[in-house]
Amino acid sequence: MTAMLLLILIAAGSDTDTTGPGLGREVSEVPVHDVFPDGTGLPPGRGTARIGQGLYAQHCLSCHGPAGEGASAEPIAGAQGALSGPHPVKTIGNYWPWAPTLYDLIRRAMPMHAPGSLRADEAYALTAYVLYLQELVELDAEVDAAVLTNLQMPNRDGFVPAEAVP
Ligand code: HEC
Repeated sequence: MTAMLLLILIAAGSDTDTTGPGLGREVSEVPVHDVFPDGTGLPPGRGTARIGQGLYAQHCLSCHGPAGEGASAEPIAGAQGALSGPHPVKTIGNYWPWAPTLYDLIRRAMPMHAPGSLRADEAYALTAYVLYLQELVELDAEVDAAVLTNLQMPNRDGFVPAEAVP
């Protein structure tokens, strides 16, 4: 009897727990599907870079600059060059071997102050716009799961698989 009472008290207590820092949001609010380089897990939806342009100005430009050249945050578009040298500029042109995971990063992590806030279509439009800034898709091309899956990213062959060394 005493044990049961204790369990009920613990269950009641967990709902009103105020000991945490009170940060973040319920996990159920953010996309739960993992997206893989081969496009597995990409949600239904579509968008064009033209639609993404407006969203970018609203949600991304302040940190990444008008053409993705960087501002308070890193550049995301522009550099085509090699990643060698002491200060390589990493952008989606040279540092993203697969487009589906670019979508996933944008949908999950951006904008940095409101991660997980973008709807699937908005994330497709924004991914399209960032790819457009890197001259990888046309402004009015419709971008969806199939397009991202089939897009050949410029530096895909510049990556080597890393094997875990025991
Ligand atoms: C408050 C500032 C801020 C805003 C707004 C923001 N970002 Fe970012 N973003 C960052 C920072 C800082 C990084 C680098 C750190 C990281 O990767 O977590 C980053 C990284 C990225 C990257 C990866 C760059 C790379 O090559 O590794 C992409 C792509 C990106 N952001 C896209 C976007 C898009 C699209 C939006 C708008 C929906 C956006 N960001 C809004 C701050 C921001």
